[in-house]
Amino acid sequence: MIKNNNSVNQFLTEVNNKVRLSDFIGQFVNLVERGNSFVGNCPFHNEKTPSFNVNNDKSLFYCFGCKAGGNIINFISKYKNLQFVESLIYISQYSGIPYIYNQKTSKISSEAKLLTNILCKSNTLFKELLKKETIAYKYLKKRGITDDALKIFNIGYAPDHKNLLKYLESDGFSFDEIKKTDLLIKNTKGEFFGRFSNRITFPIYNFSNDIVGFGARTIQDSKIKYINSQESLVFKKSQLLYGLKENLEHIRSEKEIFLVEGYMDVIKLYCSGIKNVVSTLGTTLSEMQLKKMWNFSDTPYICFDGDDAGQIASKKIAEKVLKFLLPGKSLKFVLIPENLDPDSFLQNKRKDDFLVLKKKAKDLSMIIWEGIENSINSDTPESIALIDNKINDIVKKIDDVKVSKEYFKFLKSQKDNFTWNRNKIKTGLKQKSYLNKIIENINEKLFLVMIIFYKDYLTDYHEEIFQIKLSNELLEKAKTEVLKNYTVESKFILEGENNYKELAPNLLSEIKELKNTHTSSLNEEEKKVFFRQILNNLRLPNLLEERKLIEKQMVESSAKVISANLLKKYNKISYEIKNIQNKSLE
Ligand code: UTP
Ligand code: MN
Repeated sequence: MIKNNNSVNQFLTEVNNKVRLSDFIGQFVNLVERGNSFVGNCPFHNEKTPSFNVNNDKSLFYCFGCKAGGNIINFISKYKNLQFVESLIYISQYSGIPYIYNQKTSKISSEAKLLTNILCKSNTLFKELLKKETIAYKYLKKRGITDDALKIFNIGYAPDHKNLLKYLESDGFSFDEIKKTDLLIKNTKGEFFGRFSNRITFPIYNFSNDIVGFGARTIQDSKIKYINSQESLVFKKSQLLYGLKENLEHIRSEKEIFLVEGYMDVIKLYCSGIKNVVSTLGTTLSEMQLKKMWNFSDTPYICFDGDDAGQIASKKIAEKVLKFLLPGKSLKFVLIPENLDPDSFLQNKRKDDFLVLKKKAKDLSMIIWEGIENSINSDTPESIALIDNKINDIVKKIDDVKVSKEYFKFLKSQKDNFTWNRNKIKTGLKQKSYLNKIIENINEKLFLVMIIFYKDYLTDYHEEIFQIKLSNELLEKAKTEVLKNYTVESKFILEGENNYKELAPNLLSEIKELKNTHTSSLNEEEKKVFFRQILNNLRLPNLLEERKLIEKQMVESSAKVISANLLKKYNKISYEIKNIQNKSLE
């Protein structure tokens, strides 16, 4: 019967002699013969021009793009995410070349088979026990889980350990065999309990579609919400994605995949019509889980809870995946508002609302930049220099040279934007407050500009000028000082700069500046109009006050007919006010 080829090398040699690697890989990848080898689009990364090579002489494959390479075993285990022994079995079945496990691997795989068989059998019972009208069923209904989802996800309810044992033993499993699974827990007194007893059960499948464990939720408000299977020969958290088996078809057809935090998120999204979803078992993401998702989509969406814990977990993932990034492969991050998780978000929202969130998802690179930006809390040169250090740290984490280079460029340009924007805001603020300060008294200061530097116009307006009282005390003093000279000499004399310097050291320079910015480009005629406007603006408060007085007089007037005089005055002032307001300097 079977030859005694119990070494892997011997098996591989036989397979290589019999199987053309291009035929084997050709089942999964479109290959074209070119020279001594076959080429095609690499199944391990996204590419448009083929850089994936299969060499039949050497029985090796290699991708010049992502550097994946190896023999037939490496190929199938990578392509189908199989364990080593599973790959050997796969190839053995394909080639017809028997592989006799060496004692160790054979023992492991038969033990694994036993465990998954028992778990699978248990799940049959659990499903039966989630009958309609039970408390567990009602609980799930209340949470909006459809019958379809209960079936697809094989959700069940675990009985106490005695009933479970009875069921499994009647199916031919011995107590010793059942003890090898984690279905039973032994307490310090040596008594057994059912690990998942009286809880809703969610079976967890591996990539070969065997049940390898359970998550089990309390329906009695137990302090421990979920009890999960423990790490074991078959249950390896980092190698599993909850929901992948159930949602596989949808993930393939959508070519997009969401990663959420919990069982209920996967199931509730499914019920809302979003079926391309998986979750990790815990909030870390392993290399294997990441690569598995990349098999289906170039940019999986991370959609963790909107609360702090979820956001921290997202950031950790962002940092962790840097190492594994490849050209074309990345992640996006969906932010769920108001601290909600996908499940509670969908409580009163619909699929479309969720898809809006998806549209707004942030690129990994942006999340990384924001992480840097938020860690900088001042814009001293030291802090800005710290950004460079942080950029270097990030870039060093990325193994792929091309991606690493691009991250460097991207983060540098973000940094440039960041410092530029900061400067802009700062000078903007400065300018704004400078303008505000001037605008506060702009009419009064421009008035001073006119009476100091354009004295020739003053005769025309001297009556008005003397009536004007500036509200700012300092400026009023400066005005009086200037006009003192005017009255005494009957014409304006600027007595040197000293008068104003004493009054306010900066005032004269400020006024000179205003002269330059506001009047130097005006011709004679324009200057007159400008001055008229300034006077009007300064008169406005007086006019408004005056009008109020007239209004009061009109209201209080005992005469049945308001005097024509008063009315005329009122109209004149109103007209003037309107004119000034329409031509206001600002
Ligand atoms: P959540 O608390 O968000 O659980 O934890 P959930 O799936 O949304 O369940 P509901 O909506 O409260 O019913 C997210 C995941 O963290 C793990 C589980 O994998 C869970 O799905 N977890 C949580 C535990 O393992 N144990 C716990 O006690 C809680
Ligand atoms: Mn939840």
